Amino acid sequence: MILPGDAPESIAAAVERIRAGGLLGLPTETVYGLAANADDDSAVAQVFKAKGRPADHPLIVHVADASAVAHYASFVPEFAEQLMCAFWPGPLTLILPRRPGVANAAAGGNPTIGLRCPSHPVAQAVLKVLMREAVWGLAAPSANQFGRVSPTTAAHVQGEFGDDLLILDGGACSVGIESTIIDCTRGAPVLLRPGAITPKQVQVVCGLPVLSKDDLETMASPAPKASGTLDSHYAPHATVRLMTAKELQKALTLLGSDAGQPAGRPSIALYCRTPLATVSHQVLCRRMPADASRTAQQLFAVLRDFDAHGVSQIWVETTPESSVWDGVRDRLQRAAG
Ligand code: TXA
Ligand code: MG
Repeated sequence: MILPGDAPESIAAAVERIRAGGLLGLPTETVYGLAANADDDSAVAQVFKAKGRPADHPLIVHVADASAVAHYASFVPEFAEQLMCAFWPGPLTLILPRRPGVANAAAGGNPTIGLRCPSHPVAQAVLKVLMREAVWGLAAPSANQFGRVSPTTAAHVQGEFGDDLLILDGGACSVGIESTIIDCTRGAPVLLRPGAITPKQVQVVCGLPVLSKDDLETMASPAPKASGTLDSHYAPHATVRLMTAKELQKALTLLGSDAGQPAGRPSIALYCRTPLATVSHQVLCRRMPADASRTAQQLFAVLRDFDAHGVSQIWVETTPESSVWDGVRDRLQRAAG
């Protein structure tokens, strides 16, 4: 059931559902989440089950503001405080040492906890009411089946989990790809997942260089399992291929022309910035915006739409080198598996 997220009765119904140990489709500025009380292990177990997600892949816990951090984290390094001040509420998740005994299931048994304060007004409204009732946070992975494309509208969430799930409609997500994840448990910030907030922005705020996962390989303990960091993830049903504009044009030319033949269903979808010549009915074309944030905003909806058209292949133009494209490039590379 989809309820309007801006109605007070909807917020009350959502809070009631969470208090009763149930699940909720929650809009955030990045993607929609499948939320449960982070301190209720059996509610969190339902999230893992509904998603088909392995129980040792930890979930992000969403909080109303930084005052809830002390409930979940046993220690907050100074640079993490600076990042919260600069970027919360917003699309940044911080991995911190976990206070023993809290949010066991959400943390997937890890000694750490991922915390994020979302800026979406509907998420904020739900979290604020819950905090007044001593529910400190909502564990919420993206509201999609494990390995699939994340949802950016309420209708996407309903398509994944059906009509029994209570979903608050908060409109289309403004960021469109999942939060940037920074591991703050290793003395210096480590980027685990790229997103709208770039390593450069993180570095400017805390004055420390941002390490990468590759740097971690050479450190003592490797990063824990993180679904968003698996090589194949965010995958549509169709096969995704990344190609330069030149390679795309060559492939389109090879397809040739089917002018004069009856127009059948398209079997290939094309998502590119560079204008390319195509004369085949087989190809469904969609223009990629020239800037990274607009591309991020529409990316998952575009992939879902291509799937809905039943194409068997999605051909995507490689992104520009610039670091502002890191988040989009990462999701496309994983979709290409
Ligand atoms: O934007 C987002 O972050 C969205 C919205 C709903 O907030 N949530 C999201 O959740 O992407 P999920 O569960 O699909 O991705 C969470 C990522 C996973 O890769 C998970 O393994 C990682 O965060 N993560 C969570 N807790 C962690 C921890 N303690 N240590 C390392 N990684 C962690
Ligand atoms: Mg996900």
